[in-house]
Amino acid sequence: MIGIFDSGSGGLSVLWEIRKLLPEQAYSYYADNAFCPYGEKTPAFIQERARHITDYLLGRGAQIIVVACNTATTAAISTLRSEYSHIRFIGMEPAVKPAALNTRTGVIGVLATAGTLNGSKYLTTKGIYEDNVKIVEQVGQGFVELVERGVLDGPEAEETVGRSLQPLLDVNADRIVLGCTHYPFLRPVIEKIAGPAVEIIDPAPAVARHLVEVMREEGIPFRTERTGIELTSSGDPASAERILQMIQYHA
Ligand code: DGL
Repeated sequence: MIGIFDSGSGGLSVLWEIRKLLPEQAYSYYADNAFCPYGEKTPAFIQERARHITDYLLGRGAQIIVVACNTATTAAISTLRSEYSHIRFIGMEPAVKPAALNTRTGVIGVLATAGTLNGSKYLTTKGIYEDNVKIVEQVGQGFVELVERGVLDGPEAEETVGRSLQPLLDVNADRIVLGCTHYPFLRPVIEKIAGPAVEIIDPAPAVARHLVEVMREEGIPFRTERTGIELTSSGDPASAERILQMIQYHA
């Protein structure tokens, strides 16, 4: 079984990519709705939640854990790796590299939470590429809340997305990295506003491929007898219900 967690429904965007490669697996998905959003929380707080969720997922039988949240990866993955050294953790990577290698304008944009953008993981990655490419960041203000409410299109979504996206378009960014797993749910709105000349980059497919490699290394079977997705949410029944609907709709 693969354990996977996020502050809410965002990690489902990663789970869908994983399931394309491993359709005959069992998944335990933990949505930490009671504490969503993670974006402005302290690293210590997120580490505590990550430990709690890891214990839970291990108790469900997870053989490997995907931290399907950029903010939690930034804040907690090194802590998890040192405290749970018997299990492998797969985290999100800010996809700056493919954006930096392919830009034509020489400007790339990164949309992520404040926690991700201030973290050393992102800053180190940025440091590698910023000599050759201009890298501009924006927090997707209100994006996570929209996705959690299921508002994925229409005037409100367009206005909210436009506010954070426009500054990146204004500086002529032609590659925009989605550095938060909630944001791919808003991809159609982002693409509509950005237009066809801008390429949107979601790291989830690469993370899914990396997971498969690590499972092969660890000898974790790709198929399980029992398949499907079990859902646990720390939040109120309404948020759990919304996520369940998203799972049922997609399954
Ligand atoms: N989906 C998460 C991320 O990738 C968390 C967003 C949030 O809870 O603020 O960063």
